[in-house]
Amino acid sequence: MERPRHTKVAIVGAGRGGHALLDLLHRVPSIEIIGIADRNPAALGLQRAHELRIPVVTDVLDLICNHGASLIMDVTDDPEMETYLHAHRPPTADILSGSSSRLLWELVQHEFKLEAELLQSEKLAGIGSFAAGIAHDINNPLQLILGLAENLAEERDLTVVHEQAREIIEAVKRTSAICRDLTRYSRRASPREDVPVSVNGKLDEALRIARYASSFHDIEMIKHYQPGAAVLGNPDELLHVFVNLITNAVHAMEHTRGTLTLETAVLHGEVNVRISDTGCGIAPDKIPEIFEPFFTTKAPGKGTGLGLYNVKTIVNKMHGVIAVDSQIEKGTTFTLIFPNGEPAGQGGLS
Ligand SMILES: Nc1ncnc2c1ncn2[C@@H]1O[C@H](COP(=O)(O)OP(=O)(O)OP(=O)(O)O)[C@@H](O)[C@H]1O
Ligand SMILES: [Mg+2]
Repeated sequence: MERPRHTKVAIVGAGRGGHALLDLLHRVPSIEIIGIADRNPAALGLQRAHELRIPVVTDVLDLICNHGASLIMDVTDDPEMETYLHAHRPPTADILSGSSSRLLWELVQHEFKLEAELLQSEKLAGIGSFAAGIAHDINNPLQLILGLAENLAEERDLTVVHEQAREIIEAVKRTSAICRDLTRYSRRASPREDVPVSVNGKLDEALRIARYASSFHDIEMIKHYQPGAAVLGNPDELLHVFVNLITNAVHAMEHTRGTLTLETAVLHGEVNVRISDTGCGIAPDKIPEIFEPFFTTKAPGKGTGLGLYNVKTIVNKMHGVIAVDSQIEKGTTFTLIFPNGEPAGQGGLS
């Protein structure tokens, strides 16, 4: 008998378990979620199903019998439901319920935890490579402060004293801004609900952080931002995406006078973000591999090869897609397309 191309999954129960299953399974290409059902119309997972455009079916019998289910996942933790499903399931459908369903729930939780750890460790490994740039940028204002303070110790003219005090204040503010950006970036992404995030604001924040990873001296910057472009997601994670893509672009242009172009546009209700460089490019046969974990062409100890893997994981979690277009010695463009975040107003953007 020919095997079905997709596992067609019906989820019964839209509480925390159903919600987590939706988040996990909708990312697996060989799985098609045919629908989710719950008696409680306010169940957490039903809202998520709407966002993911997965059918919400009110009648469990209809869900399991009329949509070609090959696997029924019961996450209600209700023994009566288990009995009901066994009594009514079509012969072609398997059921996962009871303790196997609980085991699956534990594995899903574990998977999410590992994913978060992976993001965090890749980010911290990246910050390690920023150390020289950070030290340089903090040392400059510190040297200035030292010089000014030494002058002040001798200065008798009150006007000059005031002027130099103001310069010291500005230098301290620059140093604290560096520390604030880095502390915000290095913290663990807060596990909050998705919020509207300003794409242009996050790109600019990412630029400030990526500056430490590599020298921007010889790089020309071009920005084409559509005002108000916003997406729904976790602001910390989106920042992580942009820092990775900008850092890669800058690394690809090392030792050249390159151009980094950042563009945002809202087209047909979708938010497009393009990050282009005029760097070394990616060989066509390597393109399918760049999103794989641990794929890197950097020297040992220079890159984890987890950057783009994490970028893709986050973009897909935000229901976006990422595409790459590259030519050897000409450059590379990464295009990200997200559903529009539809901000109510500029004030509410993160
Ligand atoms: N803009 C780009 N131009 C050229 N090659 C790129 C670009 N972005 C990614 N690559 C290629 O894809 C590989 C994987 O990128 P990824 O960000 O996943 O890891 P990495 O940059 O090597 O390591 P890390 O991100 O941990 O520093 C890179 O090693 C490089 O070969
Ligand atoms: Mg990288």
